[in-house]
Amino acid sequence: MKRHGHWIATILVLSSVFALSRLWERGLSAQESGSKKKGQTPAASVPSAQESAKPAETSAAQSVASSEKQAEYIGAETCLSCHANREGFKQNIHAKAFPHAKGIDFPRSCETCHGPGSLHATAGGDRNNPDFFTIRNPKRFSSKEVANLCLECHKGGGRFHWEGSVHESRDLSCLSCHSMHEAKSPGGKLLLAKATVMDTCFQCHNMKKAQLQRSSHMPLREGKMTCADCHNPHGSMGPTLLKQASVNENCLSCHSEKKGPFLWEHPPVRENCLNCHQPHGSQHDKLLKAKRPRLCQQCHIEAQHPTSASTPGNLHLAARSCTECHSQIHGSNHPSGVRFQR
Ligand code: HEC
Ligand code: HEC
Ligand code: HEC
Ligand code: HEC
Ligand code: HEC
Ligand code: HEC
Ligand code: HEC
Ligand code: HEC
Ligand code: HEC
Ligand code: HEC
Repeated sequence: MKRHGHWIATILVLSSVFALSRLWERGLSAQESGSKKKGQTPAASVPSAQESAKPAETSAAQSVASSEKQAEYIGAETCLSCHANREGFKQNIHAKAFPHAKGIDFPRSCETCHGPGSLHATAGGDRNNPDFFTIRNPKRFSSKEVANLCLECHKGGGRFHWEGSVHESRDLSCLSCHSMHEAKSPGGKLLLAKATVMDTCFQCHNMKKAQLQRSSHMPLREGKMTCADCHNPHGSMGPTLLKQASVNENCLSCHSEKKGPFLWEHPPVRENCLNCHQPHGSQHDKLLKAKRPRLCQQCHIEAQHPTSASTPGNLHLAARSCTECHSQIHGSNHPSGVRFQR
């Protein structure tokens, strides 16, 4: 066993050295195809950067000489001299965080995402000049290209499961929910495309908007929690984009008093809270899926405690909610709580 371990370790080391050297080479060639004069920005090594510049470079009208033309960095102030309406970017978290987190000073900020802009600038806004389009415009990017740009810096953390997530595979773009220059969230917090997390989701999940209007709901409407308290829109290990590994772990992360273990467990509670509850809203109180006693009678035969009017004078007609007597419905720790009455 030990010897095998040794060989496996050697192979692992060798293959990672190999992988690193490949990465290094790729880095170098990306740098060669970019500007040689200035240092590289992370975004400049995104393949789409070169791709989006290609149409201009290879168009039939171009001579060999013009393919020598390389865009160079000209600095944010130059961009702003024509794009005065982007002044607001100085307040953007990116402009503020770049120098600290990435060592990118403000003058280099625009071109970190848009690529070097000298050719675009000399085109002076003339759309008939192919050089105009040498600036990278993420609005024209595919979802994949946008993600490549953003994930240069945001790959880890919450985005760990972006690749293969429902949203990624349904071709959502980072820009479906975020906006770099026209964020609608107050103070540009989280750079959301709409005013709140909920409104951002409602762009596509209209049904959920309707469900939240129901009388019983958790305090989302009241602004005390958001969809992102339960879901990670960027993908997750759990089902249904849940932040936790299962529905019950999700519910119990806040309602820990329902966690148990109890002396007397009620099996449907252990199995799945959604056997009885609806997460987004319900017409019935306490977010219940059905009205009591019907809720309970989905599993417990009525013959046990008849709840219909045909049995005169019966107790269960008056106390139809079942939980009047079986009040510890999530489980009981009382020695004689086997029927969840105490
Ligand atoms: C000489 C003026 C000028 C300068 C300098 C300039 N731009 Fe532009 N740019 C324009 C004009 C005009 C347009 C077209 C109108 C518009 O979209 O606002 C444009 C359009 C754009 C677009 C959209 C392109 C498209 O595909 O439609 C982007 C992105 C852009 N500029 C970014 C930049 C950045 C980043 C810089 C600095 C590196 C810069 N610009 C410098 C004049 C300029
Ligand atoms: C963090 C990346 C990033 C940085 C930094 C950045 N932008 Fe942008 N820019 C984008 C994205 C993404 C879009 C697409 C629209 C959006 O998200 O608002 C865009 C859109 C634009 C557009 C409009 C394109 C169109 O067709 O409407 C202009 C012009 C522009 N940026 C200029 C600038 C200038 C000038 C700066 C620096 C002051 C800058 N950008 C900094 C990411 C960035
Ligand atoms: C060059 C690196 C870089 C690129 C490219 C980049 N970002 Fe960022 N972004 C940062 C840094 C640094 C912060 C500051 C917070 C942090 O350290 O995570 C940040 C913060 C954010 C935030 C959090 C805002 C807040 O209020 O907390 C969002 C959302 C965001 N970026 C989205 C994007 C999107 C979408 C793109 C692609 C269009 C993008 N970023 C491209 C570096 C980058
Ligand atoms: C379906 C909508 C949606 C999409 C698509 C989306 N985001 Fe987000 N993003 C959000 C919401 C909502 C938040 C706020 C989460 C919260 O409040 O915890 C957020 C927060 C963030 C943050 C800051 C908080 C954190 O988790 O670090 C970053 C950075 C970010 N997103 C980057 C991206 C990038 C990069 C992409 C594309 C790969 C992307 N987002 C795609 C909705 C989205
Ligand atoms: C641009 C449209 C769009 C936006 C915005 C959007 N979604 Fe989605 N979402 C989708 C699509 C498409 C699906 C797949 C639906 C399907 O397969 O029926 C989906 C699926 C989901 C699912 C189900 C995942 C699964 O595994 O079944 C959840 C949960 C979800 N979205 C949450 C959110 C949240 C939370 C937000 C806001 C932060 C959000 N979505 C914003 C388009 C969007
Ligand atoms: C308290 C936690 C919680 C909150 C808050 C929450 N969800 Fe969910 N969501 C869930 C659970 C749990 C499921 C799984 C339902 C299932 O498996 O039947 C789910 C499922 C979904 C689904 C896919 C299945 C379906 O029911 O259509 C979508 C889409 C969705 N949620 C969107 C949202 C949106 C949008 C918001 C914000 C308005 C939101 N959720 C807020 C817990 C939550
Ligand atoms: C992020 C925290 C959080 C998560 C996760 C969460 N809840 Fe809640 N829940 C709350 C808050 C806050 C309230 C309101 C409590 C109050 O008003 O005392 C609430 C209230 C409730 C109520 C009472 C509603 C009423 O009308 O009185 C039920 C039932 C409930 N949650 C079930 C669930 C279920 C089932 C899940 C899992 C799908 C879940 N919760 C996940 C925070 C959460
Ligand atoms: C067998 C059905 C059933 C299951 C399964 C179930 N509940 Fe309940 N839950 C109820 C009933 C019935 C009520 C209303 C109790 C009342 O009115 O006294 C309730 C009320 C609640 C409440 C609000 C009142 C309170 O007691 O705090 C919360 C929170 C709650 N349940 C969370 C959960 C969680 C978390 C799970 C999963 C671990 C879960 N429930 C599973 C039937 C169920
Ligand atoms: C999804 C199915 C399901 C639902 C809904 C459900 N139960 Fe149960 N319940 C069970 C199962 C399974 C048992 C365990 C039966 C056993 O051990 O023989 C149980 C056990 C019980 C017991 C203890 C009985 C015994 O034989 O030990 C009581 C009391 C009870 N449930 C009451 C309720 C009440 C009241 C409701 C409605 C609020 C309810 N149940 C809803 C499935 C359900
Ligand atoms: C007036 C109080 C009361 C109400 C209301 C009530 N129960 Fe009971 N239930 C009891 C008592 C007491 C027992 C224990 C009987 C025994 O030990 O023989 C019991 C036993 C049970 C058992 C276990 C049966 C068995 O044979 O051991 C189940 C399941 C049950 N109830 C379900 C329900 C359901 C479902 C409702 C609502 C339709 C309900 N109960 C309403 C008092 C009540």
